[in-house]
Amino acid sequence: MYWLGIDIGTGGSRALLVDEKGVVRADFTAPHEEMRMERPLWAEQRPEDWWDAAQKAIRGVLAKAKATGHQVKGVGLSGQMHGLVLLDENNEVIRPALIWCDQRSQAQVDAVNRIVGKDNVLAFIANPVLTGFTLPKLLWVRDNEPQNFARVRKVLLPKDYVRFGLTGEYATEVSDASGTALFDVVMRRWSHQMLDRLKLDRAILPRVYESSDVTGHVTAKAAELTGLAEGTPVVGGGGDQAASAVGNGIVEPGTVSCTIGTSGVVFAYMEKPNYDAAGRVHTFCHAVKGAWHVMGVTQGAGLSLQWFRNQLAPGSDYDSLTAEAATAAPGAQGLFWLPYLMGERTPHLDSSARGGWVGLTAKHTRADMIRALLEGVCFSQKDCLDIITQMGVPVNGVRLSGGGARSAFWSQLFADVFATRVATLACQEGSAYGAAILAQVGTGQFASVPEACRAIIREERTLLPRPHEAQIYRRAHEVYRALYPALRPVYRLIDALP
Ligand code: XUL
Repeated sequence: MYWLGIDIGTGGSRALLVDEKGVVRADFTAPHEEMRMERPLWAEQRPEDWWDAAQKAIRGVLAKAKATGHQVKGVGLSGQMHGLVLLDENNEVIRPALIWCDQRSQAQVDAVNRIVGKDNVLAFIANPVLTGFTLPKLLWVRDNEPQNFARVRKVLLPKDYVRFGLTGEYATEVSDASGTALFDVVMRRWSHQMLDRLKLDRAILPRVYESSDVTGHVTAKAAELTGLAEGTPVVGGGGDQAASAVGNGIVEPGTVSCTIGTSGVVFAYMEKPNYDAAGRVHTFCHAVKGAWHVMGVTQGAGLSLQWFRNQLAPGSDYDSLTAEAATAAPGAQGLFWLPYLMGERTPHLDSSARGGWVGLTAKHTRADMIRALLEGVCFSQKDCLDIITQMGVPVNGVRLSGGGARSAFWSQLFADVFATRVATLACQEGSAYGAAILAQVGTGQFASVPEACRAIIREERTLLPRPHEAQIYRRAHEVYRALYPALRPVYRLIDALP
């Protein structure tokens, strides 16, 4: 028997099959079209492309495992969070989705704060409203494309559009709903206070489930398209971060992960919904029943390296770039990288922040530039970790995952900069893996998510901070932290340019 986990990422849709013991038996990734950036800080993708890619990934993984759909006992979904999918009365997609890193909606964020009141927002949803979240994107469409807004019958999150394709149900689950800014995270239900004050129709939102609950079954049409069997249960799954946390075993107090994909996320388990008064980290429902999590987000983590490769080292692979970085000295001779390529969330909450190197001299080499870039992402993630620690959330080491964890060199930098024990896991599959585990729990293979994780997840490598490097990075992090406040007025000036 197999369970299928599917992650609708930014770069592609990834499907994997796990067996009864949680061992990955096959995987398949179908790439997505590049995100469309019509203007700086705008980012869109076509939901229909996700659904196509998801079908390819499912067919691909079944073929790779030489399995039939009848051997799949349950399906779990995970996906990029916060995206805005708009459906009309015929369930047609109205316009391309504004995705998680789209930053166009500052005016709408300001309007929500004015209409609802900043303190009320925090009381209603346990978080501030940010440009990255779904609500201001929806309001942007209402303000700027009234003809599109008038056609809206349902608002879905990215993975939930794929769920709609699979099951015909409009449904989501608590962890992804938390990132809409329309969800009462403490009570685990839609916030009628937010909806009513903003004059949004409650009927446009899908039904919310707990993450391991069954939300529907594969339809005959979807069975034909994917090779799955009609009637296969599909569980809620999770936003990619909560699902990845399940895949990393971040399901008990003291467990913390750092996941470097396009974004970088420090994620900590919480038994109670505690929040940062300044709203610099997100307090969301966990994919574990009755639990919450806090997370800090670097918008451009893996994206920094990807951007470097695409623009400045085309044709190079990531391994050769990190090997080049390893030839430079720790601290990159006083060179710093600010990873604010898509504005920044934690700790600055500033959609106008811009990236770049600071401290270049004629002596610096490309190796220094790459090393500074990798270190800058670590500093930014350390900012996230520090806030979480200051909130009193217990941190017993950090589990690293995502593409960044594949580099032994970068992993060691995280241990040095975090000045704490960092572990990598035997299974590095993250979100799709977590989604498959949630499917196992939802179909009764395990009694609970923590029980499943205890049975399945193993740490593989432990990295300890190197004292000399850790000391260099402690000083360097102080310099890094001084850069954003110094540059902030400049970002405003850039923003005001015609
Ligand atoms: C989390 C977030 C990203 C996206 C894309 O808040 O925005 O992790 O989910 O991966």
